[in-house]
Amino acid sequence: MCGIIGYVGSRPGVPIVVGGLRRLEYRGYDSSGLAVLTGGCIQVARAVGKLANLEPHLDGLEDGPDGGLHVVMGHTRWATHGGVTERNAHPHVGRSGRIAVVHNGIVENFLTLRADLATDGVAFASDTDTEVIVHLIERYVDDGMDLERATHATLARLHGSQAIVVMRADEPDRLVCARIGNAGGVCIGLGQGEAFVASDVPGILEYTREIIFLESAEVAVVTAAGVRARRLDGAEAHHRVHRFAWDPVAAEKGEYRHFMLKEIHEQARAITDTIRGRVDLETGDVSLEDLPLEPGSAPDRITLIGCGTSAYSALVGKFLIEGIARIPVEVDYGSEYRYRQPLVAPNSAVLGITQSGETADTLAAMDEARKRGSRVWSIVNAIGSQAQRVSDGHIAMRAGPEIGVCSTKAFTTSIVDQYLLACALAIARPDIQGSRDAARSLARDLARLPNLVGRALDANPIYEELARRFHHREHFLYLGRGINYPVALEGALKLKEVSYIHAEGYPAGEMKHGPIALIDEEMPVVCICVRDGVYEKMVSQVEQVKARNGIVIAIATEGDTALAAKVDHVIWVPEAPAMLNPVLTAIPLQLLAYHLAVRRGCDVDQPRNLAKSVTVE
Ligand code: G6P
Repeated sequence: MCGIIGYVGSRPGVPIVVGGLRRLEYRGYDSSGLAVLTGGCIQVARAVGKLANLEPHLDGLEDGPDGGLHVVMGHTRWATHGGVTERNAHPHVGRSGRIAVVHNGIVENFLTLRADLATDGVAFASDTDTEVIVHLIERYVDDGMDLERATHATLARLHGSQAIVVMRADEPDRLVCARIGNAGGVCIGLGQGEAFVASDVPGILEYTREIIFLESAEVAVVTAAGVRARRLDGAEAHHRVHRFAWDPVAAEKGEYRHFMLKEIHEQARAITDTIRGRVDLETGDVSLEDLPLEPGSAPDRITLIGCGTSAYSALVGKFLIEGIARIPVEVDYGSEYRYRQPLVAPNSAVLGITQSGETADTLAAMDEARKRGSRVWSIVNAIGSQAQRVSDGHIAMRAGPEIGVCSTKAFTTSIVDQYLLACALAIARPDIQGSRDAARSLARDLARLPNLVGRALDANPIYEELARRFHHREHFLYLGRGINYPVALEGALKLKEVSYIHAEGYPAGEMKHGPIALIDEEMPVVCICVRDGVYEKMVSQVEQVKARNGIVIAIATEGDTALAAKVDHVIWVPEAPAMLNPVLTAIPLQLLAYHLAVRRGCDVDQPRNLAKSVTVE
């Protein structure tokens, strides 16, 4: 969703805020803007489109006096209310021009508030829900409140989840920021005589490693001297300072043309990190540092929850946990779980899978599960994120920063996390001796995985050729079976997201119940047909596609010349233990989507209409 950055301190703030916005641009890139508080005035610059479009407008801004205090905030927008226009870009400024706000979230009752304010003579300058916030704050300030109290009073009137940062010309030493609900994080970075505000940690990691996270219903006053936060009920709020080890260089593209390509190629390294220290290669024992499982502590049922790529990772997880630990698993979308009055059996666990740890639907589902008496676990990539903080136990993906909007290494590392969890659960079950021993042996298989991933990444020079042949196609079908069926869904999602080609993923056995009608000589069909327990079934599906003149691109096990002879194109993956196949078969599908999108001239890292973390419903 939208990205927010703020700075209070003695360095020029504009470059810091613009740099931070650049790192957070993956959250939204419809338009952007900046507000600078200097000489007792607020100056604003805004522009439609990518951040680069804002930069020419910054020349006229005065970034505070040399050696004096610099107070700056900025915003990169993913539109919810009001079209993508300059007047709808943030910051929004009150009537006096002396208060400005940037916002991430949705003011659900904004129509009522807007009508009230209009009755009082407020003329609105935008079509956004955000603008009501600045007018309400201004009204409370006019009534004699300071900015902090006015922000408290305003938040009490807003429905929905919000994260905001506010500045006021008459309180020129501070930013006030606040968070309500799950509309995305507000993190505050602490420095020597300076402080930073950001929606997400990578936005400020270049400047500080000491970060605190606002919880819901908290308002913080941020000055160069530090931070003071209160809850909406007036009580003082105390925060643990998180110390981050993430290297900001990891959030740069390096020699790669796009973050997506870099992140695809990081998977061998990321998976090595995911496994490191968690499997004893002698005994096969698994230890999950933040989700310890004592013997007998495994839940009787597990619900896996996610959105987008994380939901497809969860579908793979169902195969892993049911297959290895023999515990029944349900999978649900965060957006569905929360509204369907879910039944939570005694001794069950809900596991939220989320790269960002900030996806509103996933967080709300985790909340709902807790209210209904479930244990709540998470698999997260963003350290210190909300999902991690609200969980009873979590497993870190350890993928490192994922900046490309389209998720790649978080998919494979979260599968590895679920594989580890499945093994740990099996080992923690005293009642299934045979499965426990099998789980130890499966855990040891992980040692081979990074090498296999490296081979899958290196093996295939044909992506550009495939992209050349197929970039004009408007439809693709993806088929997989068993544990590779969710990978087919993920492959189709990747293609849609980055290339705007319509793609459908299907469990291959279901093809005959509908999608087969789509197949003709124009339809490329990507078939995941590796040598596993359903290999022969998949081969017969390939035959059915060929019988209708479809074009088959097969993802096949190295050396399977018999399959290669039947299909039009082959992408090889190395032979692997069956339960680890999804990690390998996902890689060619990521690369295929990437190369097709590049060939079509698409903006791979920032596809239209998408945002990296969706912090609104
Ligand atoms: C957005 C992103 C997807 C991502 C999904 C879930 O829609 O564009 O790439 O899979 O959110 O994100 P999460 O951070 O919860 O894994």
